[in-house]
Amino acid sequence: MQRREFLTSSLAAGAALATLNLASRAAHAADTKGASAKAPATPATPTAEPAPAPAVDTFVQPPLPYSLAALAPFLKEEQMNFHYNKHHAGYFKKLNGLVAGKPEAKLSLEELITKAQGPIFNNAAQAWNHSFFWNCMSPDGGGTPKGPLGESIDRDFGGLDQFKKLFTETAVTLFGSGWAWLAAGKDKKLQVVGLPNADNPLRQGLTPVLTLDVWEHAYYIDYRNDRAKYVDEFWSKVNWEFAAHNFASMAKA
Ligand SMILES: [Fe+2]
Repeated sequence: MQRREFLTSSLAAGAALATLNLASRAAHAADTKGASAKAPATPATPTAEPAPAPAVDTFVQPPLPYSLAALAPFLKEEQMNFHYNKHHAGYFKKLNGLVAGKPEAKLSLEELITKAQGPIFNNAAQAWNHSFFWNCMSPDGGGTPKGPLGESIDRDFGGLDQFKKLFTETAVTLFGSGWAWLAAGKDKKLQVVGLPNADNPLRQGLTPVLTLDVWEHAYYIDYRNDRAKYVDEFWSKVNWEFAAHNFASMAKA
């Protein structure tokens, strides 16, 4: 039985995310079906080969940390259902198929993000990115960041409003599909990074603190092509507590 932690302990953010129950673990798929105690009434035909054990998924999609409808009106249930149950689930399904029987199946998602290329990287990163993203939003979100994160945002961006303006511009103007990130370097300095497609700050040696999915599939049902409106509404549900936890955990490393 293989187990894959969502974040490795080597990552500064690992403790924070583990605390928030983000672990992604392999499913238990043991076949416990026993033989019948009753003898067959007729002579048995040549013994059939035992059925192959069901495949065990290496990587398992973590549950949403809230209900599908919990972020409404920012994101309504239909939007979240497609995003979580179709798109995010699809990345896990494709990834498990791609790594089956390969050395990559022994790596963590984070290791695949930094080491893999092509379809395995794309699906591993999208699996990780979305699991992280769900926790960047909360039904009780909004407000302002507190503690060291709030202080560092003031220091590195000149204030929360300036940070939100830069993050919003990055998210709105990112061409095509991708993600807007708040990330921190090893010196704890914060920066806003817009990355295309499945890319992740971990590949640049940065620690992800907060992200927003700007793939069209993230908002099209609720906002059609109005990405700017979607980004603007994100601030009403942003989970500063999760972001602050990621940053504080890193600061302890
Ligand atoms: Fe997405």
